[in-house]
Amino acid sequence: MTESHTSNVERTEDPGRSQFVVVANRLPVKLADDGSWSLSPGGLVSAMLPVMRERTGAWVGWDGSAGGNDDRFEFEGIRLSTVAISQQEHDDYYSGACNETIWPLYHGSIEAAQFHRETWAAYRDVNRRFADAACAEVAEGGTVWVHDYQLQLVPQMIREQRPDAKIGYYLHIPFPPLELLARLPWRQQVLDGLLGADVVGVQTQADARNVLSGVRRFCKRDDVTFAADGGIVRSAQTTSVVKAFPISVDYAAIAAESATDDVDLGVKRLRNELGDPEVVLLGVDRLDYTKGIDLRLKAIRELLIERRLDPRKTAVVQVAVPSREDVLGYDEVRNRVEQLVGTINGDFGELGRPVVQYIHKSLPFSELLVLYRAADVLLVTPFQDGMNLVAKEYAASRVDERGALVLSEFAGAAEELTDSFLVNPYDTEGLKDQIEAAVAMEEDEEQRRMAAMRTQIESNDLAAWAKAFLALLAMA
Ligand code: F6P
Repeated sequence: MTESHTSNVERTEDPGRSQFVVVANRLPVKLADDGSWSLSPGGLVSAMLPVMRERTGAWVGWDGSAGGNDDRFEFEGIRLSTVAISQQEHDDYYSGACNETIWPLYHGSIEAAQFHRETWAAYRDVNRRFADAACAEVAEGGTVWVHDYQLQLVPQMIREQRPDAKIGYYLHIPFPPLELLARLPWRQQVLDGLLGADVVGVQTQADARNVLSGVRRFCKRDDVTFAADGGIVRSAQTTSVVKAFPISVDYAAIAAESATDDVDLGVKRLRNELGDPEVVLLGVDRLDYTKGIDLRLKAIRELLIERRLDPRKTAVVQVAVPSREDVLGYDEVRNRVEQLVGTINGDFGELGRPVVQYIHKSLPFSELLVLYRAADVLLVTPFQDGMNLVAKEYAASRVDERGALVLSEFAGAAEELTDSFLVNPYDTEGLKDQIEAAVAMEEDEEQRRMAAMRTQIESNDLAAWAKAFLALLAMA
């Protein structure tokens, strides 16, 4: 979610191997055209970077540029091994198969998923290169942890070359139910790919059930056992455990940074700049059609029309981080969002005082913290979301135990953050009622709910997530 330039990326010639290797589509840092490096966008990187800082190991991934060659760098003690992606592969693998086929299909087909044989061929080829790079990087008997929907074939490809390695796989986005998975012409390849891993981790129990029903229906396996929180899949050669590991945030680090005088001062300054409103509503999202940004703006507009929110006393801040601008569907959602922002400000703003402050860029984490602390209500209203770490970051940052969270039932975080105001984002009236209730909540109720959410996150933080996954993998 954050963009901060970093200069501590250095080229290395060292071809050594590591006992612990993370494989993800993106490296933690991305390379701009001018040769500068900055942190990569997205929840995966913000979760895995602190995990890697605690360990010694290598990270195999793409540097975000088109073209170039495979290369080796070092960043904050992490060995980086880049997998080069050509412009054609960017179009076919990244934009096509990853983000126009799998992404929409796995998010409930909110946008129609595209199925093209040539983009799938690119997906397979690029997965093969990631697998080869991982095999070159991992030491004998080492551990490889593969991440996310871009690399579902990689576990099996590594297994074929390196039976000595322990292989983990973690999916950061939802896994679709049978009726959606069934549409994917390559569903069996995907499931076989995943089952190359000793442990297949997913965000929620519903996702674990979906993987297991997919395996039962589309794969020939000797034995698929369902358990309360996951299951075991056996074949003659392999055994994979499929289990939910809800991902989290570095609670202690966020809380500590949020408790500083700088943040307190920043909050006062920001609220003042917003015109000292009674209510600050906040949204922080990648500008993605799954996030329901347009729906929440529509609900806010109706609340303003109905005078259930007072435009003179309300400020709305929406941070929309640019994302996948060449991919189908992203342009349209940007237009819808920006049109709604314009309509609300045109109808309810005053000169020099728009109701909605909209920024289309990524912000450094220090600025996000000030926004989190300044917001009376955070709106997280996706149609479907693997977890949504913004919701957890918000609660972790509220060291003052103030603030309310309006959270979609369809975000993975809803399984844990039951003290939020849960909403069905498709139900505009329900969404409006919950926003209104969150705004009107009494202080002691606000404190009780926020404290409960914070305790939940503190006892299930990022370190606990990584430890639980890796402990199970170590036993495989
Ligand atoms: O988990 C969601 C995710 O797709 C990550 O895999 C990814 O790094 C992030 O969102 C941002 O998306 P992208 O890498 O396509 O910019």
